[in-house]
This record gives sequence, structure tokens and C-alpha cells, in this order.
Amino acid sequence: MRSKRIVSGMRPTGRLHFGNLHGALNKWIDLQNDGRYECYYFVADWHALTSDYRETDHVRDYAVEMVIDWLSVGLDPEKSTIFVQSDIKEHAELHVLLSMITPLAWLERNPTYKEMKEELIEKDLSTYGFLGYPVLQAADIIIYKASGVPVGVDQLPHVELTREIARRFNFLYREVFPIPEPILTEVPKLLGIDGRKMSKSYQNSIYLGDRDKEFNAKVESMFTDPQRMRKNDPGRPEVCNVYSFHELYTGKEGSMEIGEDCRSARIGCVACKRKLAERMLEVMRPIHERQDFYRERPTLVRELLARGNARAAEEARRTMTEVREALKI
Ligand code: TRP
Ligand code: SF4
Repeated sequence: MRSKRIVSGMRPTGRLHFGNLHGALNKWIDLQNDGRYECYYFVADWHALTSDYRETDHVRDYAVEMVIDWLSVGLDPEKSTIFVQSDIKEHAELHVLLSMITPLAWLERNPTYKEMKEELIEKDLSTYGFLGYPVLQAADIIIYKASGVPVGVDQLPHVELTREIARRFNFLYREVFPIPEPILTEVPKLLGIDGRKMSKSYQNSIYLGDRDKEFNAKVESMFTDPQRMRKNDPGRPEVCNVYSFHELYTGKEGSMEIGEDCRSARIGCVACKRKLAERMLEVMRPIHERQDFYRERPTLVRELLARGNARAAEEARRTMTEVREALKI
């Protein structure tokens, strides 16, 4: 019996932050370590071009930085196939074939397409590639005959489209593709230091690579319970972003204690944040060491990716042989 296959990708945005870790990455790692799945994780660098086609200078560096963060937090190239989308040209071939059978209306009614096009006017997203974003994503997924796709809720419409496109292919030609299921990753309750969603574009992120002074300064500047003006005021940990971090990093008992001390005004926000920063830096230390290790060894990272690429290519080629036969082409 073939084990279930998992496929997911991330656009190369460079360094990853704690929102990425507690949203997507930890789920990827859990699936990898579960033992029941064959996991394929890749850098979606072509997808980065769909919106940032004007600025391509950083795509390659960002990809490497992102992969280093993946490796540092526990994605393991011995257990998962880690690769780069643009190195597997079969994705492009399948994309072109799927584009033949995908009705325009399916793409035009895609909510992400409409929203992003309106939001990012300055980028001019009225391109063919941007409209076809989900067709490429469908190719990424079904070329590995995935049965599960870990994604955030924002990506659900894309996985739904993938399912529709796969069904249409199977119906028109031959049953080649399993219909993949989305696996919802958690919506991280960690916010940025300004209390908004943690996002690179808001410049409010704490990065997995932030250390020492930089890290401490960010924690110090974090928003807390807005109603707690003075140290003697009781605080409300349940509305405090600092507390959400404590829950993840200070353990159950430790964070319960902090919660009580906050509610009874026995601890002030400054001390509370200092504790958090210390604790987090301790947990992050081995991750930072691995970041240094890989940064000093760019050849090793390239070799790891080359091996992942080779494994992915083998699967992708196998599927494409079936696809060409099914299409009689
Ligand atoms: N669209 C995804 C994102 O922006 C990235 C992505 C590309 C992806 N191809 C994929 C995710 C295939 C899952 C499966 O996050
Ligand atoms: Fe938040 Fe800690 Fe201040 Fe309480 S003491 S409001 S948990 S920062």
C-alpha cells in the first residue's frame, strides 16, 4: 500500500517569522514526523513571480534563506523531499496542459484573485500569469499525486480549484489523479509587535533569526493589554499578545503563573516581557546555531536541494508519462 503523500509550497519571501512557524511550518514538521506520510515541500519561486515579476533580484537569495530556516526548525531532508519548483520543469508542462481544460470563469471568480488585484494596484496584476496562479498551484499538487495539502484558510479556494481541475482531467481523459484534500494549518494567534497580523509587509514581525539586542528590543516594544496603564492595574492576559507567546514558550505551569501574576498586578509588563525574551532566546538557541551552520555552508544547502530536486523530478516525470499517454500526445 502506498503511503499518503503530502505536498505543500511557500513563496520565497526570505527570512521566516514566528507567525510562519506556528502557522504553517510546525504543521509541515508534524506531518513529516508522523511517519504515515511522504512529504514533498518546495520553494514556490515561480509563484513569487506572479506578483513580483518586476523585481526578481532577490528571488534566489530569498529561496536559500527560507530553506535554511526550514532546515533549522526541523524540516529534515532525510525524511521529506525538499525542492525548488523552478527546477522541476514538468510543473510548467503540466501547467500548460491544465490551462487548456480550465474554464476562465473558474479563475475569474476566485476570491483571492479579485481581492489581491484590487489591493495591490501598484503591482499591476492584470497579467495572464497572475490569473493562472491556481492552475500552476494545481499542477504543483497533482503532479505528485498528493492526497493531502497543508495550507492556511486563505489558500482553501486554491485547493478547491485544484480538486475541480483534477476531476475535470480525470473525466476528460483517464483517471490519472487522486483528488487531494486540504489539511488546514492553524491560524496563528501570535500577532506582530504592533498588535496587527504578523506580516513581512507590515514590518511588525519577529523573525526566527532575530537575536540579542534586536530580539529584545522587539519584545520590549510589543503591544500588551491596552487597558493596563500602570503597573498596579490588573492586566488581562487573555487579550495580551505577549501572553500568547508565553503560552507557547514558557510551558503550561510557567504561563499559568504569569497569567495569575498579571491578573493580580504582581508582575509588570516590563518584567513579563523580559522573562519572555529570555525564555524564547533559550528555546531558539539551537535553531540559531543551525542557521549559522547552514549559512556557513551554502554548498551543503545546494547539495541538499539538488538531492531533493532529483527525487521530486523522478516522481514528476513518472506522472507526466501517464499524462501524455492519457492525452495521446
Ligand atoms: N499559493 C501558496 C501560498 O501562497 C504557495 C503554493 C504554491 C502552494 N504552490 C502550492 C501551497 C502547492 C500548497 C501547494 O502560500
Ligand atoms: Fe501582558 Fe504580561 Fe503585561 Fe500581563 S504582565 S498585560 S501578560 S505583558
